[in-house]
Amino acid sequence: MSETVHPVPDDFNARIGPAELDALLKAEESDPHGHWMEQAKRLQWTKFPEQSGDWSFDEDDFRINWFADGKLNLSVNCLDRHLEKHGDRTAIIFEADEPGHGHRYTYRELYEETCRFANLLKQRGVHRGNRVMIYMPMIPEAAAAMLACARIGAIHSVIFGGFSPESVAGRIADCDACAVITADEGVRGGKHIPLKRNVDAALEHRDVQSVIVVTRTGADVPMKDGRDVSYSAVRDQLSTECEAEAMDAEDPLFILYTSGSTGKPKGVVHTTGGYAVWAAATFDWVFDYRDDDVFWCTADVGWITGHTYVVYGPLMNGATSVMFDGVPNFPDFGRFWETVDRLGVTIFYTAPTAIRALMREGDEPVKRYSRKSIRLLGTVGEPINPEAWEWYWRVVGDGRCPVVDTWWQTETGGILISPFPGATPMKPGSATKPLPGVKPLLVDSEGKELHGATSGNLCISASWPGQMRTVWGDHRRFFETYFSTYRGLYFTGDGCRRDEDGYYWITGRVDDVINVSGHRIGTAEVESALVAHPLVAEAAVVAFPHDIKGQAIHAYVTLNAGEEGGEDLRRELNQQVRKEIGALASPERIQFAPTLPKTRSGKIMRRILRKIAEGETAGFGDTSTLADPTVVDQLLAGAREFQ
Ligand code: WT7
Repeated sequence: MSETVHPVPDDFNARIGPAELDALLKAEESDPHGHWMEQAKRLQWTKFPEQSGDWSFDEDDFRINWFADGKLNLSVNCLDRHLEKHGDRTAIIFEADEPGHGHRYTYRELYEETCRFANLLKQRGVHRGNRVMIYMPMIPEAAAAMLACARIGAIHSVIFGGFSPESVAGRIADCDACAVITADEGVRGGKHIPLKRNVDAALEHRDVQSVIVVTRTGADVPMKDGRDVSYSAVRDQLSTECEAEAMDAEDPLFILYTSGSTGKPKGVVHTTGGYAVWAAATFDWVFDYRDDDVFWCTADVGWITGHTYVVYGPLMNGATSVMFDGVPNFPDFGRFWETVDRLGVTIFYTAPTAIRALMREGDEPVKRYSRKSIRLLGTVGEPINPEAWEWYWRVVGDGRCPVVDTWWQTETGGILISPFPGATPMKPGSATKPLPGVKPLLVDSEGKELHGATSGNLCISASWPGQMRTVWGDHRRFFETYFSTYRGLYFTGDGCRRDEDGYYWITGRVDDVINVSGHRIGTAEVESALVAHPLVAEAAVVAFPHDIKGQAIHAYVTLNAGEEGGEDLRRELNQQVRKEIGALASPERIQFAPTLPKTRSGKIMRRILRKIAEGETAGFGDTSTLADPTVVDQLLAGAREFQ
């Protein structure tokens, strides 16, 4: 791994330089309560809290609370509080799939749109505490819908538009949603995505009281009487004022489903006060936000990155946030930089997979545009290889913009490990150091803490405000998943190296989670989609390294006796995964295998499957526990076609 050090560029006049960062870290260490109360002042509270963190990761006394006696409303913090001074400032710049198409919403306009949505939800009988699914393109109405839920105290659950009707149905059932907000269609890379039709298909399994349909393309979509409402048809009759509910800090704000190593996706629950403090603080710290910035995070609101750094973090800080509904290669590979120039983007935040895809196209599509407005670059979602980091820094940033490699998770609500752009020397490939109040710790497989420069499993030993609070409907699963592996610690599922300077280098998941293009996919989910096919007896899914996607899926499939696999069946199996989960989970490779490597007790030895998928032909370690040692040679022979 590269150990180049890039100092903070001389002329990057950050608000937080080394001295300020030092003071912040010392303040947190000497008086954590005082530090967190100070951070809480970033928000406007209906009742300012007196308590900060009250938590324990021990089983007997397990609890996580932040600012629990405080009351506040997040839509007020994102909108109302800016109106007096900055009502005419742009809150959201919508950039459609078609370059230059889109529009700007000022803070006042977004406030009014949010109130309209909130009033419509109320008319439809949605109350505080009810769950509302949001299945939308990256349009400002998606942000207004989220903020409208927050305004009336309903709990939103956004699901990425790439998920299948089956997935939507599963989530609606899990959180017992009473309403769905969607659009007629989405448009991505010139292709239309039938969002409303997908919702209709999902609701065949389980209906809801209301479906609100926003017009994006004007496509003719079926509307069910009594259930479906066209937003554009009723919009003008809706009041642009709506009183905000005063929420308890620990009231749930949203549920976001994410994949784990076992079972179906978990509903990660984030609450109001702590999440808001963390989103507001980390946005300010990591992106060195200033009043005239134009901030562009390319993530979709269907993921946590979109929640925290397209909507809540920027808006709480009064920033201008770009909502991009397109893709990096449409109409061509210069799209990001053409848009950056046209909109005057100053801070740009994207995923390593996008950087690698652009890097492969060479420097020309980048150099075609000036990019002179950009002053800070960021990345998130997966480990960034030093080559891609250097390219981002040198070609996109012309060697003058700090690059913040931000490590975090759906569960953490916001960034935990990242440089401060004006204070932390950067090492390509390292997320550098924990933010104030974040206490990482490395342990060996027995849970023994490892000190100094070393590698191990990444845990966090102390709670921070943005931490998830529970798994929706299954608090036991929350404890089991994150706190039972290593006693008294939150286990991230990531492996990590810490170097002699105390820098953290995330090496990727150590559990059965696959990170494809920054999207998290559980092996168990893909396996269960595959075995749902009538010809499949058994399936095992592992990751292998992929140049652009970071990781891709290699599926080993055993068919029922007498069946034979071929290209047609591969297509069918891929279709099956798309139907059950979505295209993002479809395997890159499907290998038909006569049997899977199992121990005598019947446990699949994934270690061997992983090595074969990675292209290794020897060095499988101890295979003596295999019930049938010849299986390795059969698998190797079958894998040859992929190498
Ligand atoms: C997993 C979390 C956080 C929003 C996007 C993904 C990996 C994330 C980094 C990074 C190395 C990273 C980890 C983590 N990851 N950011 N900067 N460097 N790895 O959220 O879907 O919850 O996935 O993404 O493996 O555990 P997510």
